[in-house]
Amino acid sequence: MVFLALFVAALCNTGLGGTVVHERRATAPRGFVNHGPAHPTQMLTLRLGLAPNNAAGLDATLASISTPGSPEFRQWLSREEVKSYLEPSAETLSALESFASANGLEYQITAPNGDWATITLPVSHADQLFDAEFTVFSHRSTSENIARTLSVSLPAHLVGHVEVIHPTTDFTDHIKGRLMPGPVPLKRQADASCDTSTAAGVITPTCLQALYGIPAAPATQSSSHLLVAAYQGVHAQIADISEFLTQFRPDIPANTTYNVLTTSGGSDPQGPTPISFEANLDMEYTMGIATNVSVDFLSVGNPIASLATSFLDTTTFIAGLDNPPTVMTTSWGGNEDSFDLSMATRICDGYKALGARGISVIFASGDGGVHGGHDSASVCETPFIPVFPASCPWVTSVGATFGWEEKALNLSSGGFSNYFSTPDYQTTAVSNFLQTGIPQNFTGVFNASGRGFPDVAVQGWDFAILDGGLTTPSLGSGTSASSPLFAAIIALVNDRLVAAGKPVLGFLNPFLYSVAQERGAFTDVTEGRNTGYECPAGGLAFDAGVGWDPLSGWGSPKFEELLAAAVDY
Ligand SMILES: *[C@@H]1O[C@H](CO)[C@@H](O)[C@H](O)[C@H]1NC(C)=O
Ligand SMILES: *[C@@H]1O[C@H](CO)[C@@H](O)[C@H](O)[C@H]1NC(C)=O
Ligand SMILES: *[C@@H]1O[C@H](CO)[C@@H](O)[C@H](O)[C@H]1NC(C)=O
Ligand SMILES: *[C@@H]1O[C@H](CO)[C@@H](O)[C@H](O)[C@H]1NC(C)=O
Ligand SMILES: *[C@@H]1O[C@H](CO)[C@@H](O)[C@H](O)[C@H]1NC(C)=O
Repeated sequence: MVFLALFVAALCNTGLGGTVVHERRATAPRGFVNHGPAHPTQMLTLRLGLAPNNAAGLDATLASISTPGSPEFRQWLSREEVKSYLEPSAETLSALESFASANGLEYQITAPNGDWATITLPVSHADQLFDAEFTVFSHRSTSENIARTLSVSLPAHLVGHVEVIHPTTDFTDHIKGRLMPGPVPLKRQADASCDTSTAAGVITPTCLQALYGIPAAPATQSSSHLLVAAYQGVHAQIADISEFLTQFRPDIPANTTYNVLTTSGGSDPQGPTPISFEANLDMEYTMGIATNVSVDFLSVGNPIASLATSFLDTTTFIAGLDNPPTVMTTSWGGNEDSFDLSMATRICDGYKALGARGISVIFASGDGGVHGGHDSASVCETPFIPVFPASCPWVTSVGATFGWEEKALNLSSGGFSNYFSTPDYQTTAVSNFLQTGIPQNFTGVFNASGRGFPDVAVQGWDFAILDGGLTTPSLGSGTSASSPLFAAIIALVNDRLVAAGKPVLGFLNPFLYSVAQERGAFTDVTEGRNTGYECPAGGLAFDAGVGWDPLSGWGSPKFEELLAAAVDY
């Protein structure tokens, strides 16, 4: 979708003052190879994130509509209402116009809220305008070249009007964004036991219904649907999902399908495809738990697209929908510091705007314990590495547990953001944890003023998954399993709310941290330590404890209690 506001400028050369450094990195992240300066005539398409006219107004409104007890509680905003806060001011548009006209640039406004502009210009011009040195990089995992710069500056008169220039210092291309350890072929009967703390235990939908009290009764309301976002060329497979339903939800028609949505080069081809496991997991544990909830599969970006670009394209796509989903789940993410601060902030603001529309935005917390999205022997030291977007205060971040007596998994990412400060809804929970939950000297290991995550945790170990055209399940584990499961539970609560004539849950966290936990909607998870999946079990990490903690959040939901708390408010 392009909302065209084409502006053709005359070429002229006015001195418009100096520049201010906007983003800077010392080096490209590990794995990137520098091939020298980009060719001066190579064309770049850059996106400029324009400042909203009333960011504080949207914050105040969202606080009011998402906080239980407020007179406007759950009066979610329309597309136009959100736009009225986010569209740029006349001053911002005029600053952009004078910048474009002074420099012979054309720009297009390219987002439904009018808050992004796109310019195309040669490397030589971009280097000069933004004090940049566009350079060719490739990631060692591919031969694909990208042009990026280690430093980018804003012309002084755009400061306060342009919040991001992208992609410039972004290196989220090729990061391993899928948050799960690889699949393990199932060598035992999938229906052996639901208790994954024993060797035979395998999680199926029936186990999860029993554990959390999730009803098998079909949803009845068509207005509330759930969206699974998928990236990096991972495709859901109808045949595998059908086999899954046949084996594990024989009460659901095996020919139940999903709606395919695509944006920015996404697709959902069927048949033999290199990677489908993550998407199949997400679809099987949404369609297989949220009985008769309509599920959208949104494929975003091509296989090598920058993850930051794809996350931005997701919020832009959904912001333009008149009937957006009421829940979305994403099992992708990366180490927070691999995203630029300004871009992470804009992406996070995009989730905030979706929350204000009444969408529960749910993310996997990550699979590296305190060591980022994935741990490995080389990252076991401190400081701890938070995971984005799980660290965004406007998403609900879901950690992982295992066992019938649930414990937090060692891989369940959690901790504190270095980019986002502790939001109001969790200040009490976080300060309680900081006072009682940290026996060791953690000075300099994590950022105690940051947003703590995850918010909740559900099962995430040894899920039975059908994939690859096989009729024998594989096992999948990680917060990638937990996020779709929690989203499915929220979708079923929404269905019951809509059936009762009430608004959907929308931005969840203020409700989860107050009424829901006060009314006993969670089973507290009090054991476990998130040292990571591969880092030594004895390493420094957070411990689960009583109340909220940064590896299991408030714990796992009890469906009936959560529904009762939601209906009463
Ligand atoms: C499934 O949901 C649709 C609305 O989306 C509803 O019309 C239908 O009756 C539901 N099916 C069952 C079996 O309840
Ligand atoms: C699914 O299969 C049932 C029979 O089992 C059939 O009645 C129904 O029309 C099928 N639905 C679709 C969408 O193919
Ligand atoms: C800690 O987090 C705050 C935001 O909550 C941020 O402003 C600060 O820079 C962070 N400190 C470090 C060392 O990253
Ligand atoms: C924690 O250790 C740091 C240095 O490692 C030290 O400066 C600080 O005083 C210690 N804090 C406590 C409470 O022991
Ligand atoms: C993390 O937990 C899993 C599941 O219990 C286990 O297989 C793995 O060995 C553990 N990793 C470490 C380093 O202890």
